[in-house]
Amino acid sequence: MDSSSETSPAAPLRTIPGSYGIPFLQPIKDRLEYFYGKGGRDEYFHSRLQKYQSTVFRANMPPGPFISSNPKVIVLLDAKSFPVLFDVSKVEKKDLFTGTYMPSTKLTGGYRVLSYLDPSEPRHAQLKNLLFFMLKSSSDRVIPQFETTYTELFQGLETELAKNGKAKFNDVGEQAAFRFLGRAYFNSNPEETKLGTSAPTLISSWVLFNLGPILDLGLPWFLEELLLHTFRLPAFLIKSSYNKLYNYFESVATPIIEQAETLGVPKDEALHNILFAVCFNTFGGVKILFPNTLKWIGLAGESLHTQLAEEIRGAIKSYGDGKVTMEAIEQMPLTKSVVYESLRIDPPVPPQYGKAKSNFTIESHDATFEVKKGEMLFGYQPFATRDPKVFDRPEEFVPDRFVGDGEALLKYVMWSNGPETESPTLENKQCAGKNFVVLITRLFVIELFRRYDSFEVDIGESALGAAVTLTSLKRAST
Ligand code: HEM
Repeated sequence: MDSSSETSPAAPLRTIPGSYGIPFLQPIKDRLEYFYGKGGRDEYFHSRLQKYQSTVFRANMPPGPFISSNPKVIVLLDAKSFPVLFDVSKVEKKDLFTGTYMPSTKLTGGYRVLSYLDPSEPRHAQLKNLLFFMLKSSSDRVIPQFETTYTELFQGLETELAKNGKAKFNDVGEQAAFRFLGRAYFNSNPEETKLGTSAPTLISSWVLFNLGPILDLGLPWFLEELLLHTFRLPAFLIKSSYNKLYNYFESVATPIIEQAETLGVPKDEALHNILFAVCFNTFGGVKILFPNTLKWIGLAGESLHTQLAEEIRGAIKSYGDGKVTMEAIEQMPLTKSVVYESLRIDPPVPPQYGKAKSNFTIESHDATFEVKKGEMLFGYQPFATRDPKVFDRPEEFVPDRFVGDGEALLKYVMWSNGPETESPTLENKQCAGKNFVVLITRLFVIELFRRYDSFEVDIGESALGAAVTLTSLKRAST
């Protein structure tokens, strides 16, 4: 139902509806509604969309006082206006990775790490190049180390399930994710270093110091307001956890550090960037993406499981000589589609920001709006990737949505801060790990259905993504 066409005449000009209310008071009121209102953040946006009859409007975004001095944004909630956030000729991406506030650089060794840099800053290209190098140098290890690590994970889950009748996925899934990342990126199992199994806990605490102002941990509201949303947590409290992670990367990332030095990036700055890319960008993303993917596939039920198992096992046999190879993966259209559909329906990083570099206009499906230089644009991605003007049954998980002709819709899958049909470059802000993420999520589905015919899940909620409990795992019969 791709009805947003670039050739249609410009939609009528409309003033951007909505207002920011009384300074200081309204942003706090809005913050309370955003975190604790009925229906949560989706309803925060949905109710305003209804009220203004517009997918583009003005609103305050948390955290507001005292953490961010300016909570005013222009909200974009449709697939047509959203992509302006990817156009770095129109928007500046400096210091707004986390939105209307920026965490202290004390949390990242005193550096503004890559995610906070605009492509116009010379360090952006140097650091992105370094991460491309890190990803490329891991390419031969990704498939075998994924297989090893996720076999260990599934064996553990089976044992737990046999003992207790159920097995929680998230915690052991995070252990596996970090173990895999160490093995793939650095050829080193972190659990065999001083870190042991502590990395996921160290990372989660450090991420809390970064993202606390915009997280809802499910604590009583007055505690969350006081501890997380009103003042910053002091960075020194997390320093020793952070240093443990830093020391790990210093001990294993020698080839990447050497490359950094040839690119003109000093060792210390490179290490803080590597730590951020692995722990925040990769681990943080996978921590949300894998449970969400398991949730959607689990809830879709046995008939999808049977199709995936047939496709995956057939392609491995016919195109990989019994092994998972890139060639075999290419012959798995349903598996690919399922991964894209998971990234569409639940983009792991829902908010995206960009500051207008000049006066310009943006278009929704039904109106054109004038934006002024310096205004902050904010896209809430799940609304853009569930846009009913682009996708049929947008709220439903449709496993084969992107098979065959459906591939044309991939340009509206935007989890990586860019269309799925485009690639990260040194000049844009698209996720450096885009291809890596798609590959390992396919591998996750592949390992699952090499091993199992079907499985069942119970779903709960967590601060970031779904909490998944496996209630049955049916071993492969063929
Ligand atoms: C940027 C998502 C994995 C490195 C981004 C952005 C998103 C994103 C949404 C754009 C943020 C913004 O500017 O608004 C994810 C998700 C991941 C993931 C959901 C996993 C599930 C990775 C991996 C790497 C990586 C594996 C690799 C090292 C980066 C970097 C940027 C970025 C360096 C900034 C790019 C730039 O400055 O040009 N990611 N990412 N990410 N991501 Fe990822």
